Amino acid sequence: MNELLFGGETGMEVIGRHVKRMVWSAAGQFGLHGLCPWDIDERWLLVARREMALPALGAGMEGKTVCHLSDVHCSPLMRAQHLMKCIDVVNRLEPDFVVVTGDFITASARHYVRRIGGLLKRLSPKVDTLAVLGNHDYGVFVPNQKVVRGLGEYVAEQLDHAGVRVLTNQTATYRQAGSVLHFAGIGELWSPDHDPEAAFASIDTRQPIIALVHNPDAAPHLAQLGARYVLAGHTHGRPSRNTRMHNALWPAVFLNFVAGEYDLGDARRLYVNRGIGPSRRVCANTRPEVTMFTLRRAVAQVRPSRPSWTPEEINSTVAASTLQGMVCPLPLDGPAVATA
Ligand SMILES: [Fe+2]
Repeated sequence: MNELLFGGETGMEVIGRHVKRMVWSAAGQFGLHGLCPWDIDERWLLVARREMALPALGAGMEGKTVCHLSDVHCSPLMRAQHLMKCIDVVNRLEPDFVVVTGDFITASARHYVRRIGGLLKRLSPKVDTLAVLGNHDYGVFVPNQKVVRGLGEYVAEQLDHAGVRVLTNQTATYRQAGSVLHFAGIGELWSPDHDPEAAFASIDTRQPIIALVHNPDAAPHLAQLGARYVLAGHTHGRPSRNTRMHNALWPAVFLNFVAGEYDLGDARRLYVNRGIGPSRRVCANTRPEVTMFTLRRAVAQVRPSRPSWTPEEINSTVAASTLQGMVCPLPLDGPAVATA
């Protein structure tokens, strides 16, 4: 079950939201939903609670929590007030770690880079805030597009000033009472910085590794390299299709990686977060989301790697689980709580 926070719409706003959804759902039938100028569910936030089962997790790390955010897309369409509310919700969850899987901005205006840095300073996890960059953080909208020179570095620098540690093909390792946990942050798939082998070069893959990457298309390769759990974003919960228009505007190799949890085989999993920023939220089940994972020890045979799958195999065999978040027990300030 999922829980939606905030709300507080007037009757007319609810009617307006339904009308907008109908119009743009119809437009979506013709592949035009990307042109939607409104953020239909901007007042909502889904808090999903899940368990993350990791083989070889030590007792010292059992029960630690990881709050996953993605695709903030700080832009004229993202109200700072809404983002501050989302950050307050995250802080009230009291996670040990916060991880953000890219697309902090939408376009390359550096004003919004500084704004998102200022807002993310408010995050207060017990241990650390980690992040990877997404395609928009490089000014890239489709594969093979030239990056905006210096933009990725500027985003990383501003996040660093905000206390957010950006991992670009790097690892962050944490130890607690003899237990170890690795986070491997992977450079954006569509940028020149994508080098997952470098991120895994210095890690013992028998130990628990959570990989952070923006684009879920990278996940099968990261599982092959040794990641036990891959956290990604990028899709906004919007399915891509194998059509000429989708391939041009929203290309994806693994079409089934849309939202929620996926089994990558060999006790390795992928979670695709639908993000909290504004973007074409006209499809069903695409409301903004933060996900709170609790680490659990999984009983599974630990092997250093798994056999590779082809995109055809994955597209034909891997099916999305439903989003199975649990009800968030937090007392809410917002005037309305509704279920999906
Ligand atoms: Fe993206």
